[in-house]
Amino acid sequence: MRSSTFLPLFSMLGAFRALSLADDPRTNPAKDNSPNCSCYTVDGGNDTAYFTFHRFWDFRNLSPDHLTSDAWNADWWIQNWTSPASSDSPLERINLVENVGILTGKNGNGTALTLNTYRNNSHTQFTAEIQSMQQNIKHASIRFHARVVGSNGSEASKGACAGLFTWSNDDNESDIEILTQDPLGTIRYTNQPDLDKAGNAIPQASITSTALPPWSLFHTHRIDWLAHATHWFLDDALVAANTYSVPQRPSGIFMNLWGDGGSWTGEMAQGGSAVLVLEWVEAVFNTSGPVKGPGKRAEGKCGVVCRVDGVREIGWPEVYPNSKN
Ligand SMILES: *[C@@H]1O[C@H](CO)[C@@H](O)[C@H](O)[C@H]1NC(C)=O
Ligand SMILES: *[C@@H]1O[C@H](CO)[C@@H](O)[C@H](O)[C@H]1NC(C)=O
Ligand SMILES: *[C@@H]1O[C@H](CO)[C@@H](O)[C@H](O)[C@H]1NC(C)=O
Ligand SMILES: *[C@@H]1O[C@H](CO)[C@@H](O)[C@H](O)[C@H]1NC(C)=O
Ligand SMILES: *[C@@H]1O[C@H](CO)[C@@H](O)[C@H](O)[C@H]1NC(C)=O
Ligand SMILES: *[C@@H]1O[C@H](CO)[C@@H](O)[C@H](O)[C@H]1NC(C)=O
Ligand SMILES: *[C@@H]1O[C@H](CO)[C@@H](O)[C@H](O)[C@H]1NC(C)=O
Ligand SMILES: *[C@@H]1O[C@H](CO)[C@@H](O)[C@H](O)[C@H]1NC(C)=O
Repeated sequence: MRSSTFLPLFSMLGAFRALSLADDPRTNPAKDNSPNCSCYTVDGGNDTAYFTFHRFWDFRNLSPDHLTSDAWNADWWIQNWTSPASSDSPLERINLVENVGILTGKNGNGTALTLNTYRNNSHTQFTAEIQSMQQNIKHASIRFHARVVGSNGSEASKGACAGLFTWSNDDNESDIEILTQDPLGTIRYTNQPDLDKAGNAIPQASITSTALPPWSLFHTHRIDWLAHATHWFLDDALVAANTYSVPQRPSGIFMNLWGDGGSWTGEMAQGGSAVLVLEWVEAVFNTSGPVKGPGKRAEGKCGVVCRVDGVREIGWPEVYPNSKN
């Protein structure tokens, strides 16, 4: 609900883009949907969950023009909608394409994807949001290696929300939300809707986990969206689980950094800023509905099981030791 204030425009664009650019993830070679793996399994929780597809988006070695490349455009869309200030949202919110960028490390060492937000000296919060072109994900384990800091690597200004989430509509959404007004060890895990029709909080929608490792340092933030439960992990630890309003609709992967001066994000001070820094995103998932394109994978058969956790190199699944060929 908080991720997309401008629903009609947003949905329309989302649907249009998804349809016009429907991308078959299996056309990617090597690690993404390797022919050597017929399905994928993940560690953690108490479910034995198998997934058909695997993608790994590594932002650690990007070229300066990556965000205008075909490879980027095939997989991600940078949003550019605006929402006006209102009584609940005292700040105008403007999603800028240029607020998604590439950060180069010290001495040219490695890159990362950045989502920036800042407030100007009036009542406008400039924000950033991206969504996956793949919008037919249904059940997934999605991992975001990320941190939230200030614009110069210092402490992030209060008044921003970093969202790592799945979304189909405002009632089919699983969130990881880092609020810069929260302590560094606090993260919110929510299945939407978290407000009822009268606008009152639904307590079982959201779990606030505290005393976690600081979100200002890199950690792996993970959502396992299963049929009857959502599990959230930080690195390898299960930190929240919920069976309330587990999403039922095919969804996309979203990342954003925003604020609107409202009670959820808080109001950023004039001139304040924050940055969501992402080194990589990895997802194993199933899809709902037909998948276009060549090389269709036989569904329902899980001959060679690969694992994505505990592998030698993150992003490179390995055949599970007990897997039969
Ligand atoms: C698939 O497995 C073969 C045999 O183990 C190996 O040589 C090849 O590199 C693997 N391919 C991929 C894409 O992992
Ligand atoms: C937003 O992005 C869409 C698709 O990339 C583009 O067609 C449109 O012109 C952009 N709108 C604004 C206001 O920049
Ligand atoms: C750059 O990376 C190399 C190899 O990982 C490391 O030894 C070096 O300390 C890094 N330099 C900086 C400035 O981070
Ligand atoms: C803040 O940004 C808005 C939107 O671009 C603009 O209309 C306004 O003039 C800016 N205010 C200041 C003080 O920069
Ligand atoms: C980084 O930004 C903070 C405020 O956001 C400021 O207090 C600090 O001086 C800045 N540091 C540098 C090195 O620019
Ligand atoms: C995990 O196991 C417990 C105990 O068996 C069970 O009550 C619970 O439903 C399981 N959770 C999921 C998501 O399957
Ligand atoms: C998902 O969206 C549908 C409307 O398309 C709605 O009926 C349903 O309540 C939403 N939430 C869940 C968890 O199914
Ligand atoms: C994913 O799809 C496969 C093949 O249909 C199925 O066996 C598996 O249970 C599905 N996993 C989840 C978590 O829905």
